Amino acid sequence: MKKILLIGGTGFLGSAIACQLAHRLSSVDYSLTLPTRRRERAKHLAVLPNAHVVEADVQDAATLARLMRGQDAVISLVGILRGNFQRAHVDLPQKIAQAAQTAGVRRVLHVSALKAASDAPSDYLRSKAAGEAALQAAGLDLTIFRPSVIFGQGDSFLTLFAKLAKIAPFFPLACPEARFQPVWVEDVAATVVASLIRPQSVGQTYDLCGPRQYRLRELVAYAAATAGHPRRVLGLPDAISWLQAWAMEFVPNGPMTRDNIRSMQVANVCDTNCGFPFGREPSPLEAIAPGYLR
Ligand SMILES: NC(=O)c1ccc[n+]([C@@H]2O[C@H](COP(=O)([O-])OP(=O)(O)OC[C@H]3O[C@@H](n4cnc5c(N)ncnc54)[C@H](OP(=O)(O)O)[C@@H]3O)[C@@H](O)[C@H]2O)c1
Repeated sequence: MKKILLIGGTGFLGSAIACQLAHRLSSVDYSLTLPTRRRERAKHLAVLPNAHVVEADVQDAATLARLMRGQDAVISLVGILRGNFQRAHVDLPQKIAQAAQTAGVRRVLHVSALKAASDAPSDYLRSKAAGEAALQAAGLDLTIFRPSVIFGQGDSFLTLFAKLAKIAPFFPLACPEARFQPVWVEDVAATVVASLIRPQSVGQTYDLCGPRQYRLRELVAYAAATAGHPRRVLGLPDAISWLQAWAMEFVPNGPMTRDNIRSMQVANVCDTNCGFPFGREPSPLEAIAPGYLR
């Protein structure tokens, strides 16, 4: 796999994948193409050898067809937590499948989300399931990754809690008992990169979780304390959680929506079929997070 198109590759996980790919492929003649809506947001990737950051609207079929031409593989990473889920999570994978078929690009790796299901309680999780189904129906050499919440340098999860702790005397928290099994961004990236060159990953769906489950209140308290601002976490009752989330929907890029609360009704943890492929052991949060939260 020498020519790789990363759609949604300029974000948190995509950047880690691009860096690992650049490292892994350094001995061969490779190229990474990274479309973005705003080139200045992807400056950190333009410095990678053989990485081409291009300003492009991947939702446009003709643009996507042009980007797809001549590629050996495509990695599909676009995801949002609020906004038009149909467009980002369903229509785009459909367009990617179509463009890949037309261009003869058989190998597709797609990042979905843990607990995506057609009967899930949130639009986010249902749309992620519909995106998986669209790609599965296309008969490509597909691998799907379904991570729990991802942590690491530059995350918008533990880092957000740490930042809020700095300014807030205590933490009023919606869904304090929601369960997560956070997974390190470099572990997810390494699994995507390894899958690219391992034929046995074709047709597989990997649920990716870290080694331990946590309640949201534990994670918030941990991030705050590790950042040097220990705070009391005050779990909000359901009615207030909904009201808080509703109010935050009016804040541009606010940290919570009612759909996020619906997602948290499902435990975001691995059940029996969980496990990293290729013998990889996921890293514990406590071994990594202090390095960037402090
Ligand atoms: N982070 C997590 O905790 C987590 C957990 C489970 C699953 N996932 C999934 O993992 C994938 C990557 O997540 P991430 O945290 O790396 O996301 P991210 O940092 O927010 O990056 C999102 C990427 O998608 C692109 N994008 C966003 N909306 C788009 C749109 N409407 N049209 C075209 N491109 C768009 C962005 O490109 P621009 O350069 O154009 O902005 C960016 O490259 C997503 O599919 C997400 O659902 C993430």
